Amino acid sequence: MTGKRAGDTVTVRVPAKLNLQLAVGPRRADGYHDLVTVYHAVSLFDEVTAEPAGRDGVTVGGEGADQVPADRDNLALRAAAALRKTLAGRSAGAGRVHITIAKRIPVAAGLAGGSADAAAALVACNELWDGGLSQSQLLEVAARVGSDVAFALLGGTAVGRGRGERLTQALAPATQYHWVLAFADGQLSTSEVYAALDRLRGRGGRGDGPREIAQPELDAALMSALRSGDARLVGRTLSNDLQSAAVSLFPALRKTLAAGLELGALGALVSGSGPTCVFLAASADRALDLAVSLSGAGVCRSVARVTGPVPGAVVVPPAR
Ligand code: C5P
Repeated sequence: MTGKRAGDTVTVRVPAKLNLQLAVGPRRADGYHDLVTVYHAVSLFDEVTAEPAGRDGVTVGGEGADQVPADRDNLALRAAAALRKTLAGRSAGAGRVHITIAKRIPVAAGLAGGSADAAAALVACNELWDGGLSQSQLLEVAARVGSDVAFALLGGTAVGRGRGERLTQALAPATQYHWVLAFADGQLSTSEVYAALDRLRGRGGRGDGPREIAQPELDAALMSALRSGDARLVGRTLSNDLQSAAVSLFPALRKTLAAGLELGALGALVSGSGPTCVFLAASADRALDLAVSLSGAGVCRSVARVTGPVPGAVVVPPAR
């Protein structure tokens, strides 16, 4: 996570995430749900630049920029403020900062783009301010900023527990997986999808009382598939407890998922809280075929081919 500094500007590249498993437990007293999830970072990146400024500010450009708050509610700016607080008394250089976000990860798409930008801001400001925090110290700050922020720092493939912030890197072989992402013509709010899941589960209960929801558990079949590096097995073991809730709010996704499977995907699922749909392909060539066919089928707004796993947030070396 170390890098060079060009003058007083630091740029960090940060990946989107998929959830290869997303097991959701009962709603907790604080409104969150306990999770067991298998995160997987893929090659769709935002770039975040931090530079000293007279006051804190943020500029957002690129894909969906007009839907990202450009004020103190911005998650990247909140992450910078959280880091500054952590560094108080430790680093003389933790001053005001302007953050510029170049977005390629679609907003409110189930790909944790906002969390990615927050993770990138942590890495960039730690560098800019000579904060000297280790990765594990940055992970602690990240966990306070949002559920998926810590994973965007770590990257690779990792098991997340708690709200998703308690991470263990998965020891998978160096297999590269080929994915096709189908971006939807619309967005979903994460909290609304969780609320829809609670409603669906409530309705499925018997008798008067609420149904007992089991604690989430890691899928041993998926972990064994990842250890084998066999994409066919991985495709068969993808799962997402939020999928039915996302589809209930965005019924067109049913057609998108079915089309990808008909066109030969090894597996298909909604990414996180959606509405992006994710398809696993057997090879780079198959991914290209699938992407072209999905585009032609008119079941999504646009498609992208990505590979994973990729590393988490890293400083971009300055151009010479
Ligand atoms: O942590 P984050 O801000 O990304 O979460 C957004 C919303 O998603 C939360 O306010 C909550 O409604 C829901 N959520 C949840 N359980 C989780 C993660 C998120 O209920 N583990």
